Amino acid sequence: MNILILGSGGREHALAWAVMQNPKCDKLIVAPGNGGIAQIADCAKINIDDGATVVTFVEENAIDFVIIGPEAPLAAGVADRLREAGVLVFGPSEEAAKLEASKSFTKEICDAAHAPTAAYGHFKDPEAAKAYIREQGAPIVVKADGLAAGKGVIVAMDDQTALDAIDDMFGGAFGGAGAEVVIEEFMEGEEASFFILCDGKTALPIGTAQDHKRVGEGDTGLNTGGMGAYSPAPVLSDEIAQKALDEIVQPTIDEMARRGSPYQGVLYVGLMIKDGQPRLVEYNVRFGDPECQVLMMRLGAQALDLLHAAAEERLSETRVNWADDHAITVVMAANGYPGSYEKGSEIKGLKALPEDSMNMVFHAGTTEKDGAMTATGGRVLNVTARGATLQEARDRAYAMVEAIDWPEGFYRRDIGWRAL
Ligand code: AMP
Ligand code: GLY
Repeated sequence: MNILILGSGGREHALAWAVMQNPKCDKLIVAPGNGGIAQIADCAKINIDDGATVVTFVEENAIDFVIIGPEAPLAAGVADRLREAGVLVFGPSEEAAKLEASKSFTKEICDAAHAPTAAYGHFKDPEAAKAYIREQGAPIVVKADGLAAGKGVIVAMDDQTALDAIDDMFGGAFGGAGAEVVIEEFMEGEEASFFILCDGKTALPIGTAQDHKRVGEGDTGLNTGGMGAYSPAPVLSDEIAQKALDEIVQPTIDEMARRGSPYQGVLYVGLMIKDGQPRLVEYNVRFGDPECQVLMMRLGAQALDLLHAAAEERLSETRVNWADDHAITVVMAANGYPGSYEKGSEIKGLKALPEDSMNMVFHAGTTEKDGAMTATGGRVLNVTARGATLQEARDRAYAMVEAIDWPEGFYRRDIGWRAL
């Protein structure tokens, strides 16, 4: 099989690494890819948000199967253009991708599916939104309706912060994404993510994870895309996972099918868990980054068979070979991230590190230049390891982190603390 993966982050490096291990993969191209991906696969610089460009590329390169990594091409309908052209693709349609691209759409689906989630109001008018905030009172959560690169959510502990957030959003702080807002009840509990493959009808769980969103140790400081993650998430016990499947995931898939927009791809289910009850925080229509890195580390080569089965609507006859293992990833980021940071510094010490089924450094933001690996993003490396226990995986990952010579970067020393 000739395979094309769309994306350029650590998520796509991990997907590429898993896919390459499967003997069914004859040729792999990643577009656009990055410095680390270029070491294991061909990379092609094309505009992946443009469906026609991707279709042409697929035809020219005799691609049999396309795996879409990030949300932007999904929200832009690239999966639809590929399906129309008769290409096998892993990833939801533009309509189904609204589960991530529109928070009010997700809330509407939850209502129809009777899925437990935060109570909410949906507003297109700032004064009505403010009246709702004054009536409900803080703590309260204000969300820009559209895609805002993970920044459109304000968890307000006092009324004024929530009211200011309304002014910012309607003032255009998140562009078009903030022209509508969802205001939610603040939910307490512990967060965890549940990853489900879907083929329009069947839901197949492929793992749980928890990430660390804050930049600083002890989960303090500014929000980031994620400074580390581990799998499995101990808080998502088998019993709670089953509840989430029965009460949230399957009813959502059934409702999407009923509306004529079946969900195919991976559903990233963000949950808040309290007193044994899971409630939905959000859906994403793609793998989490860096959660994907720990999931791929654990699934290995079978990941390709699973994604392929989802695309071919064969999940009801597909099983996951579970290993009783743990994986962790530690993000190394450029000094200054998530604020402004320098690009172009050299990362040394990578070549001496082990690269096997227990240890991998996935690249998130690197470019190879004259034989040297340089940092070209905020989150730059995902140092990932597997072990029989989380402690064992963690020790392996940090041993690699310490062997990397990159003074212009930093990392958190406490990834996994909650689970240990
Ligand atoms: P989202 O982009 O919807 O995942 O929101 C980003 C983060 O905000 C989540 O990971 C939660 O930590 C927090 N959050 C979102 N909605 C709520 C809520 N209703 N109650 C408490 N925290 C929330
Ligand atoms: N790590 C969080 C996300 O991918 O959205």
